[in-house]
Amino acid sequence: MQKRLTIRDIHNKVDGGFKLSMVTAYDAFSARLVDRAEIDIALVGDSLGTTVQGRPDTLGVEMQHMLYHTEIVARCTQHCLVVGDMPFGSYQVSTDQGVSNAIAFLKAGANAVKLEGGKSVLPLVERMGEVGIPVMGHLGFTPQSINQTSGPRLNKDKSELIDEARLLQKAGAFAIVLEMVPAAIAKEVSAAVNVPTIGIGAGPHTDGQVLVFFDMLGFSPDFSPKFLKRYMNFDEQALKALRQYKADVEDGGFPAKEHSY
Ligand code: KIV
Repeated sequence: MQKRLTIRDIHNKVDGGFKLSMVTAYDAFSARLVDRAEIDIALVGDSLGTTVQGRPDTLGVEMQHMLYHTEIVARCTQHCLVVGDMPFGSYQVSTDQGVSNAIAFLKAGANAVKLEGGKSVLPLVERMGEVGIPVMGHLGFTPQSINQTSGPRLNKDKSELIDEARLLQKAGAFAIVLEMVPAAIAKEVSAAVNVPTIGIGAGPHTDGQVLVFFDMLGFSPDFSPKFLKRYMNFDEQALKALRQYKADVEDGGFPAKEHSY
């Protein structure tokens, strides 16, 4: 049986000079594909609020949604390290609240959790370390603060980011996502810490990259930020296939003899 990657494997890979790949996964379909592609980390991202649930942002995502999807991704992967993304409201109230919700993620099959923020989450990250819960940090643009930042933008300067990355590392974070951080700053943040940095819109100097499954495969034609590379055009091909099916049904082209018992 294939052995699932551990945090030590992730660290060893970076220490060996290799880059990390992380992709979001939410359901059996995406989890199996991400796993078969031997992506290092499957992130059950709270981006499921926008990509799966059709919300305008991630703020409405609840623990019950995240646990449902985490269980599926854990069940349908054998290779990837599975990281569950703590949704807005599941860790901001108190350390106890954050720890108990993080435990629920691990019980659902996640190997680690991710949470957004710098100084405000340090006591929680430390406590998680004490009770055996690996934490991935998330700095830069943090989508759960979208109301505060008035849109997808960075509201911290270079020295604050470096300081917070160092503090997250000291508190025990095993990796840090850097979102929408200018490449030159992401390079300095990455050099300032020993734990891997994983960038999205943060240039080429981070230790790894993360993209959202639906965005990189072209499910979301209207979402085209500069950082996104589309590796296929699913939306266009799926639409074409569905229209062809409709036409076939209407004109009798489907089912043909070979599709019939
Ligand atoms: O929820 C998510 O998909 C994320 C990644 C973009 C890092 O947080």
